[in-house]
Amino acid sequence: MRPETGDSRQPVAERAISAELADRVAALMARMSLEDKIAQMALVQAGEGSPIESLGDEIRSGRVGAVLNLVDRDAVNELQRIAIEESALGIPLLFGRDVIHGFQTILPLPLGQAASWNPEVVRAGARVAAQEAARAGVNWTFAPMVDIARDPRWGRVAESLGEDVFLAGHLARAMVAGFQGESLSDPGSIAACAKHFAGYGTSESGRDYATTNIPDNELHNVYLPPFKACIDQGAASLMTSFSDLDGIPASAHSGLLRDVLRDQWAFEGIVVSDWESIPQLSIHGLTADDREAAIAAANAGVELEMASDTYARHLAAAVQSGHVSLATIDTAVARILRLKFELGLFEAPYAQAADDPEAAQQTALQVARKAALQSMVLLVNRNDLLPLDAGRIKKLALIGPLADDAYEQLGTWIFDGDPTLSVSALDGIRELLGGQVEIAHLPVLETSRSRDLADIDAAVAAVHAADATVLFLGEEAILSGEAHSRADIDLPGAQVQLVRRLHAVGKPLIAVILAGRPLTLSNIVDEVDAILYAWHPGSMGGPAIADLLFGIASPSGKLPVTFPRAVGQIPLYYNARNTGKPPLPETVVQIDDIPVRAPQTSFGMSAFHLDVDHTPLFCFGHGLSYTRFEYSNLQVSPAQIRPGESVQISVDLRNCGRRGAEEILQLYVRDPVASITRPVRELKGFERVRVEPGQTVRVEFRLSTDDLKFYNRQRGWVLEPGRFQVWVGGDSNSNLAGEFQLIDA
Ligand code: NOJ
Repeated sequence: MRPETGDSRQPVAERAISAELADRVAALMARMSLEDKIAQMALVQAGEGSPIESLGDEIRSGRVGAVLNLVDRDAVNELQRIAIEESALGIPLLFGRDVIHGFQTILPLPLGQAASWNPEVVRAGARVAAQEAARAGVNWTFAPMVDIARDPRWGRVAESLGEDVFLAGHLARAMVAGFQGESLSDPGSIAACAKHFAGYGTSESGRDYATTNIPDNELHNVYLPPFKACIDQGAASLMTSFSDLDGIPASAHSGLLRDVLRDQWAFEGIVVSDWESIPQLSIHGLTADDREAAIAAANAGVELEMASDTYARHLAAAVQSGHVSLATIDTAVARILRLKFELGLFEAPYAQAADDPEAAQQTALQVARKAALQSMVLLVNRNDLLPLDAGRIKKLALIGPLADDAYEQLGTWIFDGDPTLSVSALDGIRELLGGQVEIAHLPVLETSRSRDLADIDAAVAAVHAADATVLFLGEEAILSGEAHSRADIDLPGAQVQLVRRLHAVGKPLIAVILAGRPLTLSNIVDEVDAILYAWHPGSMGGPAIADLLFGIASPSGKLPVTFPRAVGQIPLYYNARNTGKPPLPETVVQIDDIPVRAPQTSFGMSAFHLDVDHTPLFCFGHGLSYTRFEYSNLQVSPAQIRPGESVQISVDLRNCGRRGAEEILQLYVRDPVASITRPVRELKGFERVRVEPGQTVRVEFRLSTDDLKFYNRQRGWVLEPGRFQVWVGGDSNSNLAGEFQLIDA
């Protein structure tokens, strides 16, 4: 079928601009000089010391359009008052801040929220974050980060929504909806910013800021769609990436910023640079100096400059010399002003405290608790060791560096997070169990990186004496996040030795892992009997862990990323394209099976490493429950569809266990023969369903032919007739399969 331009699977973005709003913007712009306009394009950092002193005069003289990193309500309101009452044009300011996974109340990391596979949980989390931030004067957040992340070494995998384009796109939409609410002008709404446009998540070897190499196929089919999803949701802004895409750093990439974003997607919001990414164009080697960098970024379509001042210093002259057109400046400023009008800043510019701060705090903590509960993933549960039966435990050993650390459990990007709100696992468990159980708490290691096992004997004794032992392992918050990538993603410090020493005691061990990324767990997976992956779960991580360990609730999270066995397997993701020699069990050889001086051969060999099993340790979508779910009776109807029609895929889900629980059903599709090779499986639907013991529910998915489109070599979105395979199950390995045909019109 004929290629189309743009991703036609979604309606074109509609942030309807009313005639009245356009008139207000035009009337204001008619009063602005070139300098006034360029000032609106500056996002200025609130420096050290008093912001009133450092920024007051500049704002008064109309030289600043937006302020970064100021979260003191009184100071924000005073600067806003100066802008409105004392500057000549009275244009209010944007106040931007990284509100990534909560504000004072911290939700699980975005990667943890993604493990909930629950758009409503993600929306509700963003909503409380927006409300708390708005009360502090923030009206613009730099979230969601929608970079597809397939490399767990990359520190910012923590901030991502995982490796899958469909899941990330849906959850990103929910996050935008939460931040922006019903209307941007609602008191608890703040503008969202989808970042980092585009490709940042695929930096070479997971080194932050490194070069990216993304063929067109991957760019359009994998890396761009989550941005499109945010735009379709009405996201007010986008941020450029630090990275270089095919020789052009993103902040000067007109192919991305003009051709895709404006021409194909009709995006009418604003584009902001990342921090100093405009002057960095010269460090990349694209431009010779700040003047050239400012010209390149402005012409590419970057409307606001974050932190640096190349626009302020060079754009006016560049307009006069004809290097940047006045139309470019006017378009940028119109978009910025429009956002200020949409946020209601001309009518209600000042931040206000909550009417009932105590009630607001309680609501936020409840939202955080539910998000934490649904984000945790039960990876292993041998012999149904979990849940623990509180009634049968007299002595409990809680061991490891992260059992009682209210701060580290919050994770990265918590500038405004309040650690005094956090409840650690130790406190959560104590609160749940009351005084009935004797708890021995022994960190052994001071931090996750410590190597000193001097206290190990006491821990060994505690394990001997205990009826149950839970180890709290993982990474401190600072080991993931921006510029915190790791080449080795094993448990850091002496944690592996700690596990081995305790395993030698011979009693069952439960591991709760708090981390900002998938860690390589091969070296402990056989030494413990259960693993609950808690990510960095945020303020209410402790109560959520307690509820799951003791079966108040059943774990229901599923992995939004593949867990590799070894770093050498990276990148390892479920939706890869096939090779001509896929690693079937009969074609795989292990290093110890090769005879000495075996003759070289490639016959019968396939795509695998000699020294590690070719499968992941835990696949995308994996996550156990305290009950057992059985999938059966998959039906696909009708067997044939035409373009524009849809197919229904339904399945029976039976709870065969003894407790009610939630399961996340996943629908995968494969286009086995196409004009370009397509992934071996792609997620195309998911549903979180509660099923009571003995109950069977029938769950239906509907796939439209738009869901089957892909971007091909003719640079357009196409729908190709033929056979499509489908699978439904509890993870990406399900073999409950069906198929249907798409026939040409
Ligand atoms: C740099 C980061 O890449 C970006 O995501 C963040 O929003 C800005 N700094 C502002 O802090």
